[in-house]
Amino acid sequence: MSFHTVEQAPARLNRSELAVPGSAVQMFEKAAQSDADVIFLDLEDAVAPDDKAQARKNIIKALNEIDWGTKTMSVRINGLDTHYMYRDVVDVVEQAGARLDLIMIPKVGTAADVYAVDMMVTQIEDAMGFKKRIGFEHIIETALGMQNVNEIAAASKRNESLHFGVADYAASTRARTTIIGGVNPDYAVLTDPLEDATRATHWGDMWHYALARMVVAARANGLRPVDGPFGDFSDPEGYKAAAKRAAVLGCEGKWAIHPSQIALANEVMSPSEKEVTRAKRILEAMMEAAKQGKGAVSLDGRLIDYASIRQAEVLVEKAKQIAGV
Ligand code: GLV
Ligand code: MG
Repeated sequence: MSFHTVEQAPARLNRSELAVPGSAVQMFEKAAQSDADVIFLDLEDAVAPDDKAQARKNIIKALNEIDWGTKTMSVRINGLDTHYMYRDVVDVVEQAGARLDLIMIPKVGTAADVYAVDMMVTQIEDAMGFKKRIGFEHIIETALGMQNVNEIAAASKRNESLHFGVADYAASTRARTTIIGGVNPDYAVLTDPLEDATRATHWGDMWHYALARMVVAARANGLRPVDGPFGDFSDPEGYKAAAKRAAVLGCEGKWAIHPSQIALANEVMSPSEKEVTRAKRILEAMMEAAKQGKGAVSLDGRLIDYASIRQAEVLVEKAKQIAGV
């Protein structure tokens, strides 16, 4: 291990994060009853400019009056390049800060963006006498944000998670795609002719680099990496595949832009019984090995060593966290 200690963000379940437009009050109660781990009430891109002021009022009222149970509650404010943003922060934190757990900052581009919001939130919390500190979740969804992802991840003690905003990221990098998340047939390689002279097309994951880069920045700073939206809510299999490949890379959760995606995210982002059982067997085998003075042994014909203990502990810890829901 490095001499540098990575401080971990507060442990929260973040398997599913449901997006709810602040203008869609009719959806609030259903969202509160859902199985989403985190809900973000949106003031940004799902709300039309003329509806922003009313959406802000709706969100403040809803945070104060609806029983959200033990859910982690977040509000996505508008970007720092808009004049909506300062009032989003001031009104929402002043009037509903007691029930707000997180603020989601979209299109964050530099560490200074984080600093600016931190300064505002700190002043409001102090003035209001709030005891609880509001955390930050950042959407990495611009070329600038991705370029500065390491500095952004380290920019505030409030930071809790980084989210991959695939739609805006595509727009910002001018990727030739108009779908939200998912795959693109043009991102593929063609094999050389096979024995029967045909050639096979292998589709790739065009978001791999961006997602992997964000995961590393998040983990190096003790934050949760979370995969963003998958627009085609009529394709549960496509959603699950996208969530699985994010989980395999190290993401803890994925957005749900439709209630039907909540269960899919919770399922994929929870370790399976089989995984947990194997993790527990690894821990037992390594305890036994330690008694015999060994640092590495074989289990089911595969090598396990001290690194296996750390991997297994991550899974067992996650299972405990979920069981505590
Ligand atoms: C989310 O905000 C996205 O742009 O994908
Ligand atoms: Mg976006």
